[in-house]
Amino acid sequence: MCGIVGIVGKQQAENVLLQGLERLEYRGYDSAGIFVADRTSSHLVKAQGRIQNLADKLTPEVTGTIGIGHTRWATHGKPSEVNAHPHTSASGRLVLVHNGVIENFDDLHQTYLANDVLKGQTDTEIVVHLIETLMIQEQLSTKEAFKKALSLIQGSYAFALVDVKDPTVIYVAKNKSPLLIGIGDGFNVVCSDAMAMIDQTHEFLEIADGEMVIVTNDSVTIYDAAGRGIQRESYQAQLDLSDIEKGTYPYYMLKEIDEQPAVMRRLVQEYRQADGEIHIDSALVSELAASDRVYIVACGTSSHAGWAAKRFFEELTQIPVEIHLSSEFGYNLPLISKKPFFIYLSQSGETADSRQVLVKTNELDYPALTITNVAGSTLSREADHTLLLYAGPEIAVASTKAYTAQIAVMALLATAVGRTKGLAKATNFPVFQELGIVASAMESIISEKSHFSDLTAEYLTATRNAFYIGRGNDYYVSMEAALKLKEISYIQAEGFAAGELKHGTIALIEEGTPVIGIITDEVTGSHTRGNLKEVESRGAKTLVIASEALAKVGDQILLPQVHPYLTSLLAVLPTQLLAYYATLQRGYDVDKPRNLAKSVTVE
Ligand code: F6R
Repeated sequence: MCGIVGIVGKQQAENVLLQGLERLEYRGYDSAGIFVADRTSSHLVKAQGRIQNLADKLTPEVTGTIGIGHTRWATHGKPSEVNAHPHTSASGRLVLVHNGVIENFDDLHQTYLANDVLKGQTDTEIVVHLIETLMIQEQLSTKEAFKKALSLIQGSYAFALVDVKDPTVIYVAKNKSPLLIGIGDGFNVVCSDAMAMIDQTHEFLEIADGEMVIVTNDSVTIYDAAGRGIQRESYQAQLDLSDIEKGTYPYYMLKEIDEQPAVMRRLVQEYRQADGEIHIDSALVSELAASDRVYIVACGTSSHAGWAAKRFFEELTQIPVEIHLSSEFGYNLPLISKKPFFIYLSQSGETADSRQVLVKTNELDYPALTITNVAGSTLSREADHTLLLYAGPEIAVASTKAYTAQIAVMALLATAVGRTKGLAKATNFPVFQELGIVASAMESIISEKSHFSDLTAEYLTATRNAFYIGRGNDYYVSMEAALKLKEISYIQAEGFAAGELKHGTIALIEEGTPVIGIITDEVTGSHTRGNLKEVESRGAKTLVIASEALAKVGDQILLPQVHPYLTSLLAVLPTQLLAYYATLQRGYDVDKPRNLAKSVTVE
C-alpha cells in the first residue's frame, strides 16, 4: 500500500528508482513519481496510473545523484497527477514521499498553514508544507523542522524527505508503515521492501517506529524519538533476484500457483528435524498446548486459511478455535477465555487491521504468534513468536501460495501441539508424509492447465455472476474461491454453504448461472450433490470439483486423494486456475486488479 524508494550517492539515481518502483508496484498503482537532484539541477516527474506511464515521461536530462520515488494507492485524494507523490513545499525547496495516513491532517492545516497553500487533496502535502513553515517561522534547520513535524503528526507514516539546498541527505522516519535502509558501497538506499533494492545491496537496517534517520552516501545515523543516537546491527536479506522475477511466466499469479508444490516440499524441509520430529520452538508449542482457546485473527485470504485450518486444528489439539476478521475484532472484542492464545495469519506481516488487534492483545498481555511470509515484518517483530511460510515473495495481488502455505504451517503446528499433549490423532498423523503427497497431487492438477482454460471459457468467462458451494471445509474453500474470482476477474461471486442456498440465496439462480460445487468430504458430499441438483433444476450450469474417491461420472475436475485434514490445500488449486483464466479471457490484468494493492497498511 504505497511504495517508497530513495537513493543517495550514486550516479543515475533515476534508473535505480524506476526499477525499485517497478518492484514495489504491487503496493499500489494509482500514480507514481520520482524526484532526482544534484548540486546543479533537480527534476520532479509524476504520472497518473502505472509506473510505465512515469517511465514514458522520463527524458535524458532527468538525472541526479540523489532521488526519492513513490508508487501510490490512493487514500486521501483521488488518483491524479496532482495528488501523485513526491510533494513539494511552497518554495519548492523540500520534496517528500509518504506511505501511511496522517490522521490529524485537518488540525495541522488549520493550525499551521495558510488556506491556499495546497495544490492537491493529499494528507502528505500538508506535511511538506508544515516542515517548511516550521523552518521559516521558528528558524529551524531541515533536520530540526522534520523532527518537530514528526512530534506534531498523528497517524501512520514512512517518510523520505530531500532538501534541494543540500542534495546529499535523505531524511527518513517511520511509524507503523514499513521502511528499511539499505547499505551500499559509496551509496545508501531507502525502501518499503528489501525486494525493491535487492540488486543494489543485500545488507539492510531496520527502523523502529518513532525513529528518525539521516542517510547520506557514506553514513546512516539513527535517532530515537528523544533525539538520542542509536547503534543498530544490519542484517542480510535472504532474497534472490530469481525469486522476484517472472521469468518466462506471463503473470506472477501463474508463477505463484505453479510454485505451490515446491512450497509444500520446502516447508517439509524447513520444519523437519533430523529425528523426524517437527522443528517448532518448544516454548511456543507448550504455551499453545496450555491454552484453552485459540483465536485466529486475519483478513481476506489469510482469514480463509484460518477457516480451512480450524477443523483439523481442533481435532489434532483438542483446543477450540475461533476465527475473527481483524477489522471487526479490534473494535468489538468478544468475551475472551481464561487462557487464550492468539494466532495472526498474515502473508505480508504488515496488514494494519491485524496489527491494531495485535497491539491490543499485547497490551492485555495475551500470548501471540504471527504466521507470516516476511521475516522481520511488523507483525512478526511485535508478536511473541513467529513461524515462517517459506513461500518466497508473493507479488501478484491475489494471494495463492501464501494461502496454502498458511494451512500447511497450521497443520505442522497443530500436530506438534497435539503430540506434546500426547493425543493419539496427532501422534498418528504423519504430517510430513501427507504434505509430500499433497505436493505431488498439486503437481498433477497444475499439469492440466489447458483443461482449466477450456472449462473457464465454457462456464465463467462470459458470466456476470457465479457461486461456489460446499459444506464444511469445502464451504471454507468456496469462500476463498469466490474471493479469488471476484477480486481479479470482477465476476460477482459468492462462496456459500451449500445447505444454506435454499434459505434465500437460491432466488439468485437464473438460466445459465454457474454454480461450482466442491466435494471432498465423505459425509456431506452427497448433500452437496443434492444441492447442485436443486440449482440445476432452476437453470444453473453446474461444475463439480470432487475428490477421486467421491467422484461421479460427468464430474469435470477430479482431485487426487489426500488426507482428509488437507483437502483444502488441493481443492483450492483448480479455483485459483479458474480465476486466473477467467481474468485472462476477460482481458484484465491478472496481477494488478483495479482498486487493490498488496500489503494493506492502512486501516
Ligand atoms: C486476496 C488477498 C487479501 C489478503 C489480505 C491480508 O487475494 O491477498 O485478501 O489476504 O489483504 O493480507 P495479509 O495476509 O498480508 O495480512
